[in-house]
Amino acid sequence: MATNVPERSDSTMDLRRSGIPSGAKITEIDTMPPQVTLRPYRPDDAPAMAQLYFDSARTLGPRRYTPEQVAAWAPAPADPASFRVRAEDGRTTLVAVDAQGAVAAYGDLEPDGHVDHLYCRPDMAGAGVAEQVLDALISHAQATGVRSLYVEASELARSLFERKGFEVVERRDFVLRGVPIHNYAMRRAPT
Ligand SMILES: CC(C)(COP(=O)(O)OP(=O)(O)OC[C@H]1O[C@@H](n2cnc3c(N)ncnc32)[C@H](O)[C@@H]1OP(=O)(O)O)[C@@H](O)C(=O)NCCC(=O)NCCS
Repeated sequence: MATNVPERSDSTMDLRRSGIPSGAKITEIDTMPPQVTLRPYRPDDAPAMAQLYFDSARTLGPRRYTPEQVAAWAPAPADPASFRVRAEDGRTTLVAVDAQGAVAAYGDLEPDGHVDHLYCRPDMAGAGVAEQVLDALISHAQATGVRSLYVEASELARSLFERKGFEVVERRDFVLRGVPIHNYAMRRAPT
């Protein structure tokens, strides 16, 4: 897997080739988001999306959920066929691909404004890649007359959606495969 996630900050980097006078103190380096390209889903994306879904839930999920909850969320590698069916049911699915053409994140928007999935490959997490996908889905919604958006956001995704204008409607506590878990019903008002 590609590992081109930029450093968020680095106070110890070698400045000799940077052109910055020696002795200058640096505590934060502004970096560019990773180079990804957004494009519509293609049928041959389904296996990579299924793998990404499992890797993302299993690797990023433990940041905010217990091991039991993560296991209930993604009990086994997902079936690419089910991703193909979902992506071809009338929803809009966008993928972000990295410089090597591999799927780095994906998200989808149903015709009624429901954002169903938004998943980022673990090695690209925290770098704003899913944000780029979400921005594009919001733009697509606006361009096609879908005025109000809604989502059931995980603990991991809640603050990203808040940054994009979604508000929490309610916390949803439910049981998934026998395990209590929660997420947040969120809505983005018409703009
Ligand atoms: C939710 C998710 C899509 C966000 O993708 P992303 O591209 O990492 O989004 P961001 O770059 O905005 O970072 C999200 C958060 O992770 C934090 N983060 C920083 N470094 C990180 C790292 N190495 N790994 C994971 N998260 C990191 C960021 O600080 C940010 O926190 P904040 O939102 O509280 O500010 C991603 O975490 C994911 O795929 N999670 C699993 C699936 C999921 O929960 N999907 C949402 C369903 S609605």
